[in-house]
Amino acid sequence: SQPHRIAVIAGDGIGTEVMPEGIRVLDAAARRFGIGLQYDHFDFSSCDYYEKHGKMLPDDWKAQIGGHDAIYFGAVGWPDKVPDHISLWGSLLMFRREFDQYVNLRPARLMPGVTAPVVRRDGSPRQPGEIDMIIVRENTEGEYSSIGGRMYAGTEREIVMQETVMSRHGVDRVLRYAFEVARSRPKKHLTSATKSNGIAITMPYWDERVEAMAREYPDVKVDKFHIDILTAHFVQRPDFFDVVVGSNLFGDILSDLGPACTGTIGIAPSANLNPDRRFPSLFEPVHGSAPDIAGKGIANPIGQIWCGAMMLDFLGHRQAHDAILGAIESVLEPGSQAPRTPDLGGTASTTELGQAIADAVAQR
Ligand code: NAD
Ligand code: IPM
Ligand code: MN
Repeated sequence: SQPHRIAVIAGDGIGTEVMPEGIRVLDAAARRFGIGLQYDHFDFSSCDYYEKHGKMLPDDWKAQIGGHDAIYFGAVGWPDKVPDHISLWGSLLMFRREFDQYVNLRPARLMPGVTAPVVRRDGSPRQPGEIDMIIVRENTEGEYSSIGGRMYAGTEREIVMQETVMSRHGVDRVLRYAFEVARSRPKKHLTSATKSNGIAITMPYWDERVEAMAREYPDVKVDKFHIDILTAHFVQRPDFFDVVVGSNLFGDILSDLGPACTGTIGIAPSANLNPDRRFPSLFEPVHGSAPDIAGKGIANPIGQIWCGAMMLDFLGHRQAHDAILGAIESVLEPGSQAPRTPDLGGTASTTELGQAIADAVAQR
């Protein structure tokens, strides 16, 4: 059969360091399971590209990557070179919108051999399996809007404002996806992030749509928390959560917090999905370009590797996905002699950890 065509965009900072490890592991899985993968590498969507061309993307970017089966993405942003809102709205956020990737799936799981910084009430450590949630983030509208503006610029009466946009279509489709994910999991538990006490128009609307959708899923146990106390619950009882659905901004915040509760954001993956498959979906780690550690070769590549597994799953290769997840777990396993990067308490390099996971995939 035809190989899958993957558009590879490494981007900035540690994106360029973790991407080769992601590909190393994808290649190992492809060999092991007889999957054809063809990579096309693109240098745009990076701040270096911006410095050369005065923009983040070439005019024909859609034609260049829109026909691929998936986009494998590193991280973008280098605030010393290009202001973040320019680099991000000019690339990643554009991909999410233009390719209608309205679901952003972000699992957070406590892995074996990793110590969670959040402990139980009695002070004892959380065990693997105890934290196992999936955040479903709305990814194309909400608080991330470019509607608004600045008035009376430069005067003492300067005003800025920005609209939050929620459409019934946009809210319902991500809620439906979240309910389906919840229904497919043993606990069948969905938590909705809200703030309908303070954000008095859009958030009550969100709650209303959740209630309407819940009537179609009587088998799913639904609850909701305001985002402020929800963040507290993530820290104090992360074991309570199964599937958590949130608007664009709340989902963003929770998807750094969830993985941080499981030890490090360096392992967290994300899948920006166009479930209709009219456009390519985009797979990237949750983390950014990490300027503070970039160039040192110590970034944790697991987030990049795990989202590669999600990409293979989305392309129909469940077994390969499971093998990569199993390889990650076996390498992290307590007592495993495998290398660990500094964020996991070790001294290993990005490449050493990537290679160990690739070797483990080959043996599965
Ligand atoms: P960040 O995720 O890049 O870094 C936050 C902290 O986590 C840093 O201390 C960093 O060293 C650490 N960290 C992140 N990934 C790690 C890994 N794989 N291994 C070990 N440690 C890791 O967030 P930031 O500092 O807020 O953002 C830096 C830049 O990245 C900004 O330009 C921001 O806009 C951009 N960003 C991009 C994406 C994306 O491409 N999806 C996501 C988040 C931030
Ligand atoms: C993420 C990032 C992006 C977001 C930024 C870089 C615009 O934080 O993918 O989580 O807010 O969506
Ligand atoms: Mn984020």
